[in-house]
Amino acid sequence: TEAPRPAPEPSAQSLPAMGRALLKLWLCELWVLLLDAGVDAKLLPHEEDVYFINEYVNLHNELRGNVFPQGSNLRFMTWDVALSRTARAWGKKCSHERNPYLGKPYMAHPKFNDIGENMWIGLENEFTASIAIRSWYKEKTRYHIENDSCSRDCSNYKQVVWNTSYKIGCAVTPCSRVGHITRAAVFICNYAPGGALSRRPYTPGVDCSQCNKYDRCTDYLCSNADRDEVIYYRFWYPRWEVPRPIVCDPLCLLTFFLRTLCFTVCVTAVLVIQSRFPNILLGEEMLFASEVVEVKPEKVEEKEEGIKGEKMKKEEEDKEKKEEEVEEEEEEEEEEEGEEEEEEEEEEEVEG
Ligand SMILES: *[C@@H]1O[C@H](CO)[C@@H](O)[C@H](O)[C@H]1NC(C)=O
Ligand SMILES: *[C@@H]1O[C@H](CO)[C@@H](O)[C@H](O)[C@H]1NC(C)=O
Repeated sequence: TEAPRPAPEPSAQSLPAMGRALLKLWLCELWVLLLDAGVDAKLLPHEEDVYFINEYVNLHNELRGNVFPQGSNLRFMTWDVALSRTARAWGKKCSHERNPYLGKPYMAHPKFNDIGENMWIGLENEFTASIAIRSWYKEKTRYHIENDSCSRDCSNYKQVVWNTSYKIGCAVTPCSRVGHITRAAVFICNYAPGGALSRRPYTPGVDCSQCNKYDRCTDYLCSNADRDEVIYYRFWYPRWEVPRPIVCDPLCLLTFFLRTLCFTVCVTAVLVIQSRFPNILLGEEMLFASEVVEVKPEKVEEKEEGIKGEKMKKEEEDKEKKEEEVEEEEEEEEEEEGEEEEEEEEEEEVEG
């Protein structure tokens, strides 16, 4: 067996090694700082973030599929962009009140009129979709499905497992203050069709045993390709949203296009007319036409003055050139004289 190699002596490489160690230390600190900053600036997910959407849609379907007692007619849920935009718009108000637009036609969705809503308000740095949704589902412990009664409020639970809802859209918004919570996050889920919550949320029974005629069974839930088709309402957003998002629908695009076209046509027309009729006068010029006529002789004089000025300049330049030449000649003469003097001095030294 080999003896353990002696550690390389630090003497020769001590300086670079020190430098490297310092660099490493510095990089470590930088990393920790960046990590800190990252934790501080933890961004809440955008309402169209795919991971966020998958998280809350899948969790809803999981909880709905595993209700106890078993449900016979709960529908499979899919994402809806309009519902999540409504959730975003109301979340921005940083209020713990219920969204008053949910029951009004076309105010919360382009197709549905009755929208359900669940809201979670908590600390921003404690938010996850899972924590919020499970907190709603926990209200189940207060609910008795035998006699459809609740020991306290369990409307959030009922909405999560409401059998007829099949569209969902959620959004989370940071709020500096909501009620007594500072640095809060407001998480809202909107459901369509919403539940009146005045009956049992579903009929207990064997999974999918009471689905509609053309439904299939997906994850113990009634699914239907037509019903579950995801429609992306590109240009729809709640009218009452403040500040309004910048959305340009086909009408807006058409207006923009026509305006640009009109502008271009006008500019071209002006340019063409000006080049064809260079003597055309504007309205103001026509009003002062008499003055324009009087001004003309002055202009001619100005031009003459201009020509005179140019002549003067040329003459001045010529003078300057001549002076320069004279100066150069003088310098040359001086230099020649200097050389002669030096020669004389040398001759004197030789004689000495
Ligand atoms: C409903 O049923 C539960 C348990 O079966 C019972 O504790 C509760 O008091 C009932 N509520 C009403 C309003 O009858
Ligand atoms: C939803 O559940 C209620 C109560 O159990 C039931 O009367 C209704 O028919 C169900 N609707 C659908 C579409 O399954």
